[in-house]
Amino acid sequence: MEERAEMTQRFDISVGKLLGGDVGPLAAAPLTASPAKGTFFLETFGCQMNDHDSEKVAGLLLARGYRQVETPDAASLVLYNTCSIREKAAQKVFSRLGEYRTKQAAGQVIGVLGCVAQQEGEEIFERAPWVSLVCGSASYRKLPELLSQVEAGNQRVTGLDNDTDETFETEMTRRDNPWRAYLTIIEGCDKACSYCVVPYTRGPERSRASDSVLRELRQIAELGYSEVQFLGQTVNSYADPSPRKMTFSELLLAAADAPGMRRVRFTTSHPRDFTPDIVDAIDAQPKLCNHVHLPVQSGSTRVLREMQRTYSREEYLEKIELIRNAKRPISITTDVIVGFPGETDADFGETLSLLDTVKYDGLYGFKYSPRPNTPAQSMPDAIPEEEKSRRLTALQEKQREIQTGKLAEMTGQTFELLVSNKSRRENMWSGHTSCNRVVSFSAQQKELLGRYVDVRVTSAGPASLAGECIE
Ligand code: 5AD
Ligand code: SF4
Repeated sequence: MEERAEMTQRFDISVGKLLGGDVGPLAAAPLTASPAKGTFFLETFGCQMNDHDSEKVAGLLLARGYRQVETPDAASLVLYNTCSIREKAAQKVFSRLGEYRTKQAAGQVIGVLGCVAQQEGEEIFERAPWVSLVCGSASYRKLPELLSQVEAGNQRVTGLDNDTDETFETEMTRRDNPWRAYLTIIEGCDKACSYCVVPYTRGPERSRASDSVLRELRQIAELGYSEVQFLGQTVNSYADPSPRKMTFSELLLAAADAPGMRRVRFTTSHPRDFTPDIVDAIDAQPKLCNHVHLPVQSGSTRVLREMQRTYSREEYLEKIELIRNAKRPISITTDVIVGFPGETDADFGETLSLLDTVKYDGLYGFKYSPRPNTPAQSMPDAIPEEEKSRRLTALQEKQREIQTGKLAEMTGQTFELLVSNKSRRENMWSGHTSCNRVVSFSAQQKELLGRYVDVRVTSAGPASLAGECIE
């Protein structure tokens, strides 16, 4: 999934106040005046799948006549869409619930959505009795029904099935970004990485029918979006359930043909299912963005086996070779976990040497975090926290060196940017390249937001690029 912070920190996991155990004592806090009925506040944690789920939930609520407000205090319905990929992210929601309880107004309904909801289930009602809706990410298709129950005043409403074979599709989605639209093509995950909670929280893999995906894509294009990002935990494992049986690369090519669409990107790819036809499609169709996010997790075949990643270091490197042999340069980014149980210095050394071999354009590094219901949780030889931190620093340091060199190589080159941000500084803008790099640049034009412009890169820092518009 995509960066919402710096390249080395994928999720915003800074935790203000951690409430390790029960937040019950706060339940006695006084209630203040009630906010306007039919208003909602929605806060999202975690990855782009969550961001996009929240866009769909917001669409659903707007279609029911709700109005979105900027603060929890002003909302009659307060929703938290949560992430449980690592422990700190999961704790954050309990911290929010605790903080918020002291300010909660009379008659407000509080709901917990997403992966923590799926993972903790009804336990959330015990820890935070003022919550009245708990709905996991695999149960969103039931949300309209659950909302009706909430509106009827039901105090403990749950949607917690994760054995669904349906995907979450809505009539209306309220998209946050006016230029780039997310579109989920596959939900859940059928891989069984031993550290990962996703197969448990998001349920089994379900692909959307290709005609439904392409119909939504055309609607998106008609609304004026020119860039779409296909989403899935293992996006390239896409398997069209309709008789059309489109492959993933065929779907990409069909998407690029939609009138008005200028860029199609996709994330996250699983190395095992990364096939040559995907690279051929990128080569054949310039509208397919030249960026692949291909998480490796570890450079050691032994650790990869323990992680149940289903490929060896060598097999992964063969996929990299495929991408490197494309006719146009394709940027490659990755995820790495350090400190998996039993990871030796030598194993970690292999991860560092893999970075030297691949020379990634970007990397998200994570310290291993034991998760409930995962096989790795009970594995012996846990790595001490200080050692995990040391390894993460070493990993980031190496990536920084590599990335500094790669960014410096971009100086003097010209890239097409989709302009998505206007700086407070006069005549300064920023946008992203097809390879997903952000470049800030100067331009004399009055209005550039949403436009495509050519920018020559004039300077590079360790994590940033600057340039000038040459249009
Ligand atoms: N601990 C640390 N990192 C994890 N990830 C997934 N599960 C864990 C875990 N238990 C990382 C992987 C994955 C990314 C989304 O989060 O690197 O690719
Ligand atoms: Fe988790 Fe592995 Fe599935 Fe990715 S492929 S979501 S890491 S189980």
